[in-house]
Amino acid sequence: MYDVLVVGSANADLTVRVERRPGAGETVTGTDLVESAGGKGANQAAAAARIGGRTALLARVGGDAYGQLLLDAQRDAGTDVTPVIVDDAARTGTAMIIVDPDGDNSIVVSPGANAALTPQDVAAAKDTIAAATVVSLQLEIPMESVRAAASAAEQAGTRVVLNPSPAPEAAALAPELLAAADPLVVNEHEARQLSGLADGTPAAWAQALRERGARSVVVTLGGDGALVLDASGATDVPGVRVKAVDTTGAGDAFTGALATRLARGDTLAEAARFAVRVGAAAVTKPGAQPSYPTRAELEALAPELPQG
Ligand code: RIB
Ligand code: NA
Repeated sequence: MYDVLVVGSANADLTVRVERRPGAGETVTGTDLVESAGGKGANQAAAAARIGGRTALLARVGGDAYGQLLLDAQRDAGTDVTPVIVDDAARTGTAMIIVDPDGDNSIVVSPGANAALTPQDVAAAKDTIAAATVVSLQLEIPMESVRAAASAAEQAGTRVVLNPSPAPEAAALAPELLAAADPLVVNEHEARQLSGLADGTPAAWAQALRERGARSVVVTLGGDGALVLDASGATDVPGVRVKAVDTTGAGDAFTGALATRLARGDTLAEAARFAVRVGAAAVTKPGAQPSYPTRAELEALAPELPQG
């Protein structure tokens, strides 16, 4: 039995900090290169496992040094990597990341092995999907594989958490996929794009996304917390103010933690309150997975957490 099975991407993050982003045709000099474990799927899994969730990851990596780095990072976090496929014919996905002095990033992803995660791979993991309480999904693997995972989860009675990131065009998100999301987890940019409301409030975006079919919605608002909307209504979850060092993967940390707490029986609002703290902890340190807190580190940041 797993609390959370993540089906998704794994990337080696190649990060350089810069004083400012280069414009077109411009060269800027940054810091030394840091190679660390990332990728939206692997990040969600690492965040879930670090806080004590029984976690497994279905992903594809290449048979190269970056693939090994990603596997080592998952094992270190406590994830069951049995479902990870090592694909000798592909390179491990990589993300080229620049981080500015405010901790904000720009990212270019080269999918590599992630692009080869097929619906057949998902079908082969049917029993693992059924053995999980929650399946957590993002969009850095082929869309048909995400849809296959959502539909296998629905058939098995496994709850689906979906972070539609990188944000697709609204029309590219299939109605069945949206309807499986419980919740759909979106940041402000994704909320505007997928709701079709360029203006408005988080509550309005969430309402529009529910009307488009999502069973429940969480809009993450960075330092301002989150807005949660489900059948019991809307809840504002306050933010935790921290000094941002590197926001890379903070949303993935939030989603992995949210999925874990939902699997443990929290309401959506309770799970979001917990996940806001995990996301806040993640922005205080460099990198994605290397910044994710253990339960003990989280309690030091926010002593009033629920037990269990
Ligand atoms: O969401 C952050 C992640 O996006 C990074 O770890 C990078 O790998 C890209 O997938
Ligand atoms: Na971080």
